[in-house]
Amino acid sequence: MDDALDFLLDKYQQGLPLEDARVRFAALVTLDAENLPMTRFVTIRSFTRAGISISVSGDSPKITHLMSNGKWELAGFWPVQLFQYRIRGTYEIRCGEDERATWHMKPEASRVLDVYHENVRPQSTPLASREQLLEEVATLRRNIDAGLTPFEAKKVSSLWLSPTFIETWEGSDDDRLHDRSIWKLSESKWVRTRLVP
Ligand SMILES: Cc1cc2nc3c(=O)[nH]c(=O)nc-3n(C[C@H](O)[C@H](O)[C@H](O)COP(=O)(O)O)c2cc1C
Repeated sequence: MDDALDFLLDKYQQGLPLEDARVRFAALVTLDAENLPMTRFVTIRSFTRAGISISVSGDSPKITHLMSNGKWELAGFWPVQLFQYRIRGTYEIRCGEDERATWHMKPEASRVLDVYHENVRPQSTPLASREQLLEEVATLRRNIDAGLTPFEAKKVSSLWLSPTFIETWEGSDDDRLHDRSIWKLSESKWVRTRLVP
């Protein structure tokens, strides 16, 4: 296969019915203000030729990092297929009608947390204690029920990642001669280079 996206998408589609839950999760790395890497796991909402989409809070550190330096890497390991990848490229943050519609399909508790992020404390900011969070969320729920706080989250966004660099690793358990490649997008074409495993 000559196209890295087709290659990865094929693997991804094969992984979904294998019920390898890990196909849906990936490690997203960004660089913080001190140029230090920060990794967190995220859920892949969709993966098509249009890109990889992840639901994020618009005020989260990962988005602050991206907006300040633009650097990211997404990595995953799919044990059932004995396959790993890492991806770099460009990104776009979208916050429009599609995001609003998708947000309404999230579980209620997740939506309450999103409203909390926007009205009480942003994601990843410090708390005095676990009790503080529980009390503040209970108060928020009462305020939502009383109509004092709108049950909406305007900053929930989708992060769209468009690969321009993909590294793939297909395990070969018997001989350990794993098949590794890097693929780089050059003038709309993927150029593949095999690597020593
Ligand atoms: C399995 C799993 C899936 C997750 N999915 C998401 C996700 O889709 N979006 C998200 O913003 N955080 C997700 N998180 C939480 C992030 O790992 C992270 O704690 C949070 O986004 C704050 O990251 P930041 O402070 O680096 O921005 C997930 C965590 C786990 C363990």
